Amino acid sequence: IECLPSGYKIRPIDKADFGAVEVLRVLTTVGDVTREAFEKVYESWVSHKDTYYVLVIENDIGDIVSVGSLIVEKKLIHNCGSIGHIEDIAVAKSEQGKKLGLTLIKTLTSISERLGCYKTILDCSENNIGFYEKCGFQKTGAMMTRRV
Ligand code: ACO
Repeated sequence: IECLPSGYKIRPIDKADFGAVEVLRVLTTVGDVTREAFEKVYESWVSHKDTYYVLVIENDIGDIVSVGSLIVEKKLIHNCGSIGHIEDIAVAKSEQGKKLGLTLIKTLTSISERLGCYKTILDCSENNIGFYEKCGFQKTGAMMTRRV
């Protein structure tokens, strides 16, 4: 889709990619997720293969430097259509500004579209609107949250 720096790879997350947990710390609170806890969540994704599409980007020395997810929701509306939800996008601080985020979003969006989703949506902060516009998204609606 885009060109990654030489030696970088984008691929589905694997059971050995515990490093993705560290990368997510640039996004929000992660907590002390153990390797065992990571593997359990990974297995739950694998058992719903047609719902969870989680990708990582590995750099030229094999470190996980980016992670992001597409969750496919099957609906009744729009003739039993599907929507792709993009969630939990992160690029390691030292790797930002190299188009990794753009490549990740374009790849997740193309999976969503290939699967026939009639739209792909995400929630983000005001700060990230410019980034998602560069990825081909438009600002629509309003986000509502109720926290426990
Ligand atoms: N605002 C405006 N433009 C931006 C921003 C921003 N916050 N971030 C990047 N851009 C621009 C870049 O300048 C670049 O523009 P260009 O093509 O004209 O040069 C283009 O968007 C692509 O940028 P990338 O290099 O692909 O961006 P990067 O790899 O740094 O990834 C990301 C962007 C994912 C926001 C990253 O900075 C990050 O992980 N931030 C912290 C966590 C975060 O906020 N994640 C997203 C949360 S929303 C969600 O998860 C659905």
